[in-house]
Amino acid sequence: MALREQLAAYQRGGLTSFHTPGHKGRAELLPGVRFPAHDLTELPGLDMLHAPEGVILAAERRAAEIFGAERTYFLVNGATCGNQALLTALAAAGRRGPVLTDRRAHRSVAAGFVLSGLEPRYLPAIVHPDFGLPLGCAIPEEIDWENLSAMHITSPSYYGTVMDIAALAGQRAARGGDCPLCVDAAHGAHFFGEFFPPSPLQAGAEIVLHSAHKTLGALTQSAFLHARGAGCRLPLAASLEMLQSSSPSYLLLASMEAAAEQAAREGLPAALREETAALRAALGDDLRLLGAGDVGTYGIKDLDWSKLLINLRPLGIGAPEAAEWLRTRGGVEPELWDGENILFMLGVGSRPADLRLLRRALEDLVREVRRGALPRGAKKQAPSAWRDLPLPPARLTPREAWLAPKRSVPLEAAAGLVAGETVSVYPPGVPLIMAGEEITPDIAELWRDLTDRRWQGWSGRAAGAALVLQS
Ligand SMILES: Cc1ncc(COP(=O)(O)O)c(C=O)c1O
Repeated sequence: MALREQLAAYQRGGLTSFHTPGHKGRAELLPGVRFPAHDLTELPGLDMLHAPEGVILAAERRAAEIFGAERTYFLVNGATCGNQALLTALAAAGRRGPVLTDRRAHRSVAAGFVLSGLEPRYLPAIVHPDFGLPLGCAIPEEIDWENLSAMHITSPSYYGTVMDIAALAGQRAARGGDCPLCVDAAHGAHFFGEFFPPSPLQAGAEIVLHSAHKTLGALTQSAFLHARGAGCRLPLAASLEMLQSSSPSYLLLASMEAAAEQAAREGLPAALREETAALRAALGDDLRLLGAGDVGTYGIKDLDWSKLLINLRPLGIGAPEAAEWLRTRGGVEPELWDGENILFMLGVGSRPADLRLLRRALEDLVREVRRGALPRGAKKQAPSAWRDLPLPPARLTPREAWLAPKRSVPLEAAAGLVAGETVSVYPPGVPLIMAGEEITPDIAELWRDLTDRRWQGWSGRAAGAALVLQS
């Protein structure tokens, strides 16, 4: 079947979206954006993304005003290129110290280290035992701000858990210096108003990244890179010009302008919060939902109510089969699932009726399992990719490892060697090992235990081989 036929077939399935993009297919969230007529190029009057002086600059300035930044850049290569650009900009500004980095950082951060040559110093993830997921990040009491190039934190996480950015910004301010606090808030572009945690820009971060397509109404691949204070002194524009397409999509640009205005005006409709609370109340005894009671535990400072992370362990059923049942019988499409958890995401296009459908689907699932219609524990996978292992020692920087000659060895023989590529179990996509790190015996054992999971970046998976550096 051709790709377009497959897309049409998927759409005919009529599943209700609890995944990205946040517009959920609602054209009214893209007012004035005409496809394909507005798929134009840099024509007279339409400005230039890489040297904006006209309508693009005006739209970026308006977005900066809406989000509380001094400068906002529209990105057409996703938050992915935002992470890469901010790290290359730090290097271009002459910064050479390590970057204190959340281990939960997205793969684009690892790519940014390859491009920039900077050295990451990772802060370990904190695994929540009920979910087996890295929902927090361990922040040291004392941070050597003076000798860092930057600090790079991921908040909110994919799962909606939020870190204490204000405390970090306060700690940094107390020590002086101009080490920028960079926050990858790809999943938090919708943080507006009293019912959401403060946005990292309000909390004092200097560089903040938003995916405009994950929860807001912009088209997929759209993102905002915001800067203030020390962030404005970095050559972000030059980095973005190097990394982004020279043919930026005006559909994406126009959708970002619309998404920023929508966020300022309404954002996530308030009625969704009430339906979410009703769903939590109805299902909280049968399923383990990440919720308000988890705030203050396992590195979780706050939560985004618009994410529903559900652990199926209390029901005794694996997440893959629950997700299959919910898709085929319940009519709802989650964002992702692993062995025991399912994540549902709302966006500005979500409607209260969607949540009522999800609630009914989950209640039906619980009922079906209770009456034995779905065998308990069937197909249950290894519960968690996450064991509390110490971070492996880094022998080379990601860039040195990228450029070094490599060879392939059987996974059984990999312990003690240096990884030649960054590999992650997905979800949650947190690296098991980064290129340049030593594959410790514990990591090698975990890697072997998890071979049947979904992987990102593992080129030798089919052969059961690890790519390592030639010694
Ligand atoms: C934390 C985080 N940062 C960055 C990205 C990349 O975002 P984009 O899809 O906009 O390139 C993702 C994507 O899932 C992410 O989860």
